[in-house]
Amino acid sequence: MKPDNHILIIFGASGDLTKRKLLPSLFELFDRDMLPERFVVLGVARTKFTGEGFRKEQRENLKRFLKSGEPADKTLDSFLERVHYVALDTDDAREYRLLAEKIAEIRRTEDIPDKLLFYLAVPPQNYERIADALRETGLNRAQEERGWRRIIVEKPFGSSLETAQRLNRHLCSIFGEDEIYRIDHFLGKETVQNILVLRFANQIFESLWNRNYIESIEIRAEETLGIENRGKYYEGAGALRDMVQNHLMQLMGFVAMEAPSAFDAELMRDEVAKVFRSLHPLSPADVIRGQYVAGEVDGKPLPAYREEQGVNADSTTETYVAMRFYIDNWRWGGVPFYFYTGKRLAKSKSEIIIHFKNVPHRLFTGMCTQDSCNELVLKVDAPESISLKFGLKVPGSFFEVKRVSMDFAYDSLCNTYIANAYERLLLDAMQGDSTLYTRTDALELSWRFIDPIVRAWAEKPAEGLVFYPAGSEGPMPQGDQGDVLCAK
Ligand SMILES: NC(=O)c1ccc[n+]([C@@H]2O[C@H](COP(=O)([O-])OP(=O)(O)OC[C@H]3O[C@@H](n4cnc5c(N)ncnc54)[C@H](OP(=O)(O)O)[C@@H]3O)[C@@H](O)[C@H]2O)c1
Repeated sequence: MKPDNHILIIFGASGDLTKRKLLPSLFELFDRDMLPERFVVLGVARTKFTGEGFRKEQRENLKRFLKSGEPADKTLDSFLERVHYVALDTDDAREYRLLAEKIAEIRRTEDIPDKLLFYLAVPPQNYERIADALRETGLNRAQEERGWRRIIVEKPFGSSLETAQRLNRHLCSIFGEDEIYRIDHFLGKETVQNILVLRFANQIFESLWNRNYIESIEIRAEETLGIENRGKYYEGAGALRDMVQNHLMQLMGFVAMEAPSAFDAELMRDEVAKVFRSLHPLSPADVIRGQYVAGEVDGKPLPAYREEQGVNADSTTETYVAMRFYIDNWRWGGVPFYFYTGKRLAKSKSEIIIHFKNVPHRLFTGMCTQDSCNELVLKVDAPESISLKFGLKVPGSFFEVKRVSMDFAYDSLCNTYIANAYERLLLDAMQGDSTLYTRTDALELSWRFIDPIVRAWAEKPAEGLVFYPAGSEGPMPQGDQGDVLCAK
């Protein structure tokens, strides 16, 4: 079923996220006829575009950033007819009058009911002011009986437990919890959603999914990219806040949760929150942080993090995190979970590896004598895939074991369009489905988990920071750190 007719108001419409992700995703939804019949995107930013100027700019951006290739001019024209723009400074409460007038005009001319979806794609310091101004102009509440309001909030959602709680309290005083959609685009990825289907639609996996059969669980989100032009933002964030507190924690929540009694947003999110509540408190020894120094990839020299634009010359911000932790409950007691994430590494990969225990008694020689042959690898980044690894006999006269892999690639699903994460999540918010969005309690629990580390590092900024060459595998195991750096 298509979403209700509504207006999507994007704050930050002249920014990077809008041009690279939001408008291309909206175009894909439009092209697939998944948007409502009467639907308008209203862009908001300070840059003084006219409506026509904004459409012209976005036409070029769409041609550049659409993954499905350059679209037909006619389709592009029909989509862009639905795109409007209003220039205003969101810091200036008086200017919201322009927004209210523009919304009223669009609703009148396009015959759209009192249904507004706001998207905060602006720097996080603007979130509270925008919410305040929406309250002051009365735009946060629907006036029509069957109208609705929803607001999507980008990451980062806070920079510590305290700031996340403050932002939550603030937003919840202006919008209802069920109207707030905290986005984590990892949850929009097909393979991530498939964790739930794989686990809860298949007895063969779910019956092994516990401490009796699983040795350890490894979750990786590693990138060859550096910090691009985001030095200023990254200096205030670092890998722990940028990747661990949100993306990796959410992946872990799906891997570790119990089955809900029904596939319902609140029941699902209850189960994720229960996992977060069971986390064993972290100590600084469980977490290793690194920063890249100059290195090279394919003979091309790469600068050190401290030489990047917007980064302090003596920065101690971490560009790499490895951590080991435990979940204190019956299913997972004693099973180590590992997170690895970093920038400027040798390879880009985002994957979840379930390491199964070895057989109790080894009969054969070969690869799997020390470690188990059995792994389930869920590759979360494109091309998304699932691989099951197991031992088989090497042909010949001896009983020698070799590990083989049974692979399923998502793009082998012929004729099935695989939507990107933002398409999926935008459509969910339009339909009022918050299953794949983060609820207040889970968000605060994830901050509560990492906050002691954030504070410990702030107190002793240089202590324990290790360096790795750009383009390498990350920090090398040394001394006690070896246990954390070698999953299994
Ligand atoms: N880019 C990504 O891939 C990505 C990924 C995940 C999360 N995010 C999050 O998404 C948000 C936006 O990121 P971005 O990369 O798009 O940033 P960006 O390129 O710097 O864009 C920021 C946008 O906010 C607008 N803006 C800033 N101050 C404003 C003000 N006072 N009044 C009105 N508009 C204002 C800017 O427009 P004007 O300068 O024209 O006013 C611009 O459109 C951030 O919270 C970021 O953390 C981004």
